[in-house]
Amino acid sequence: MTVQIECPDAAETMAAGRRLAGLLWAGDILLLDGDLGAGKTTFVAGLAEGLGVDEPITSPTFILMRTYSGLMSLTHADVYRAETLSEIEDLDLLEASADGVLAVEWGTAIEQWLPANHLVVRIRVGEGETRSIEFLPRGSWSSRPLSELQA
Ligand SMILES: Nc1ncnc2c1ncn2[C@@H]1O[C@H](COP(=O)(O)OP(=O)(O)O)[C@@H](O)[C@H]1O
Ligand SMILES: [Mg+2]
Repeated sequence: MTVQIECPDAAETMAAGRRLAGLLWAGDILLLDGDLGAGKTTFVAGLAEGLGVDEPITSPTFILMRTYSGLMSLTHADVYRAETLSEIEDLDLLEASADGVLAVEWGTAIEQWLPANHLVVRIRVGEGETRSIEFLPRGSWSSRPLSELQA
């Protein structure tokens, strides 16, 4: 089941990320999809709050990947600038995130190389500041209680 929510401002997008944190287990993989400026990093900042990370989240665009500690670790990656598969393999995303949550911006570009069980978070820009966020479960994610994400 796909769940879609409307977020009228950045605070609501962060709140959605915080709600998702409550559904996560160590080893979970989230792939964030959406144009530049859609709100992927903003969503991950809310997710980080929900996971008890007490540092600010900055965009990992230039450093590709960063791991934060919290109740569970959060590995935040952005593969937008990665140009080759080996560059992505060198990041060792799965190893870096084995005991926590992995959130990959532009991750749907590498979906075929990642484990089948993951959640796609697709953010679309609407009128003004409105964003609509679609949660698309893949594999075993279809049995997760995604309806709890509706505020
Ligand atoms: N509803 C909203 N949800 C998320 N971000 C929003 C929203 N409305 C405005 N914004 C702004 O849009 C920008 C999104 O930037 P960012 O999260 O870095 O996007 P991305 O990581 O997708 O490139 C931020 O400046 C944020 O404050
Ligand atoms: Mg970003």
